[in-house]
Amino acid sequence: MSVLRHVMLPWSEKVASVMLRQVGSFQTSIPHARWQVMTKQAFASSQPENVVYAGPSQASPKRVTLRTLRTKYANQEPISMVTAYDYPSAVHVDEANVDILLVGDSAAMVVHGHDTTLPITLDEMLVHCRAAARGARRAFLVGDLPFGSYEVSTAQAVQSATRMLKEGNMDAVKLEGGSSGRVSAARAIVEAGVAVMGHVGLTPQSVSVLGGFRPQAQVADEALEVMQRALALQGAGCFSIVLECVPAPIAAAVTKALSIPTIGIGAGPATSGQVLVYHDLLGMMSHPHHAKVTPKFCKQYASAGKVIQSAIQQYRDEVASRTFPGTAFSPYKIPDAEIESLARELRARGLEDIAKAVEEEAHRQKTHA
Ligand code: KIV
Repeated sequence: MSVLRHVMLPWSEKVASVMLRQVGSFQTSIPHARWQVMTKQAFASSQPENVVYAGPSQASPKRVTLRTLRTKYANQEPISMVTAYDYPSAVHVDEANVDILLVGDSAAMVVHGHDTTLPITLDEMLVHCRAAARGARRAFLVGDLPFGSYEVSTAQAVQSATRMLKEGNMDAVKLEGGSSGRVSAARAIVEAGVAVMGHVGLTPQSVSVLGGFRPQAQVADEALEVMQRALALQGAGCFSIVLECVPAPIAAAVTKALSIPTIGIGAGPATSGQVLVYHDLLGMMSHPHHAKVTPKFCKQYASAGKVIQSAIQQYRDEVASRTFPGTAFSPYKIPDAEIESLARELRARGLEDIAKAVEEEAHRQKTHA
């Protein structure tokens, strides 16, 4: 009881006493430490790291915030980032203690099956964001602003970014590109109170003008432009910049030029952190049909796609051969007396075939148990 009282202190006595009544008997079957964690989770809302205006007490585990990321950067500790798009993927990423969980617009390709990231809408992204946010208790959450949600005006950019926080439960947003329009959008969003991650190098939303998903900054002029764009985004207040598909020496130069962390993807080892797409990292697309989609720079840490494919194939085969579910996976029992009574009732209604089917299956279940 004393543990419960301690956990509930910030809430009114009235709420606490109702909750204590409701949970009293349930609590006794759960180990003490586990109960304490569960109770804290049940009452946790969003957890501001530095409570100025008295908010809810700190959740466990401690959330990664911009301050955590700045400290890691200052200490030259690499920052990890992985994409996730729904509750289960977010749980996996979060449980692995990855620092930043990006709800990327790559969802358009790896989840929705499009050829580019262009078709996904802000409303679709918000569904992914909310689901991922439910699965992540620790990671810093960044939501990707999709193509068409921030280019028209700074007002549009601010509106989309604020929706990412209010409706998507994200901590920050990411936008692509470093042209003057994008820099103005980034500045306006930061001024509105939303943290922004920039993204330069290969920016897949610009596939139309780039003429395909090609590596960037392989000539000196382009490399300088990538650096200038990164610096401009930093000047606009971005807290970090993704560098995608640029040669390692260029990523090293940009990282050296900036005073905020760079997060590389296909950009070599000299960035402040690394990001990979969930499906690529896990080999989710490792079925031969999809193998060509996995980018060259991506190390596959698993062949989850093959495991999934063969499990579903085996299930399908066992259904076809009636080996699944068998008696082992038919757990719900009915007493013999009830079977007899049901069969009698069915026969009284002239349903001999059905009565027989009941008896035969009951017999089969017993003899194969
Ligand atoms: O959408 C995404 O997954 C991304 C990463 C590749 C950085 O933008």
